[in-house]
Amino acid sequence: MHKIINHYNKIETELCPHPTGICKVNLFALESNIKKLHAFANAKSRKKLKFLFPVKGNGYGSGMIPIAKFVEKKQLCDYFGVAHFEEAYELRKADIQTPILILAQSFLKSDQISYIVKHNIEQAVSDKSLLRKLNTEAKKQKKIINIHLNIDTGMGRLGVFAKNALSFIKEINKYKNVHLTGVMTHFSVADVNNSKQSIYTKQQIKIFTKLRKQIFVVARNNNIIFHAANSAGTLEYPLSLFDMIRPGIATYGYPERYGNGLSLKLKPIMELATKIIMIKTYLKGYSVGYGRTYSAKQGERIAIAPIGYADGLNRGLSNKLTPIMNGQKTQSLGRISMDQFCLKAGKKTKAGDKVIIIGQSGKYSNSAHDLANQINTIPYEILCSLGNAKRIRHEYCYVR
Ligand SMILES: Cc1ncc(COP(=O)(O)O)c(C=O)c1O
Repeated sequence: MHKIINHYNKIETELCPHPTGICKVNLFALESNIKKLHAFANAKSRKKLKFLFPVKGNGYGSGMIPIAKFVEKKQLCDYFGVAHFEEAYELRKADIQTPILILAQSFLKSDQISYIVKHNIEQAVSDKSLLRKLNTEAKKQKKIINIHLNIDTGMGRLGVFAKNALSFIKEINKYKNVHLTGVMTHFSVADVNNSKQSIYTKQQIKIFTKLRKQIFVVARNNNIIFHAANSAGTLEYPLSLFDMIRPGIATYGYPERYGNGLSLKLKPIMELATKIIMIKTYLKGYSVGYGRTYSAKQGERIAIAPIGYADGLNRGLSNKLTPIMNGQKTQSLGRISMDQFCLKAGKKTKAGDKVIIIGQSGKYSNSAHDLANQINTIPYEILCSLGNAKRIRHEYCYVR
């Protein structure tokens, strides 16, 4: 494990030798979140469920390859879930051997279909043309390709409409080089804590449960993995657990803020911090940054931090962000610009002091949930932005 950490920290240092900030990823928290969620779901379902770990979106911003390497080494999951071919390709290129399921679909060129078949990547399918192409390629390579049928039970995005699912299965039956390994669906409002949306999720589960029985009658094989539960499904809807769970955001430490998600005490795995560059003392009324949205008080000490929206820090957090510095909450002042933001300095603040943007220090914490709430978005978006920030170095650790 330490070999993996050292290896990827070295790569990160090479990729980003002069970071503006550090995104610390605690693999111990990741391991413990996976174990807690898995044990919880097994207990609820009284089965040994499979665990698909969604690592799409660059591991929700935490770095797909290092975390997948760690999770594979520790044998913590049965599948990695990605959204697109590119991510499955990256995983196999990094020598990840664990089954990979491409949950979404992209426009696949023939060389990509060939790669999927050759490297035993599993693909969720919701249209007949892809099914045909996969079968043709598998036949050419004298192989069987594992697919998962995606059924739209109410998500209204990818997936075959539920009413067409059985005829789709009959279509799959015609293709000799395709094996129906799994059948999946996805929830649209399982994370919303109100009775109207809860009825909708239960309806999705009901449709899927009914189809499950019918599929066993129609399908060629009966060793099919049925799966539906995202984080909210896993935590709040025991009837959604079926044979495999796919919790993403909860595994990264952000369950919804009610119910079982809270009691499991999952830990956020990522922290974002930077260091103060300089402090300036301002005259009364002197404006701070673009748009002149903050005016200083007489003699106010203001610190400048070297990260901005190019580093994944959403501009919407201007004048709202409350980072932690020297064990105290402080306040961002003025607009967050591309490369800097300003914040209120204490009497003793000095250049080099650590500024925690996401993370905890003593009794204070700032979670991706907190930041998301301030700008009317979701923690997913806050975390994913960090995965695209080239000037932020990811640093992996294993801290109990
Ligand atoms: C098909 C599918 N399954 C599972 C997940 C994981 O969802 P969550 O992060 O809400 O647990 C996602 C994420 O969007 C998804 O698209």
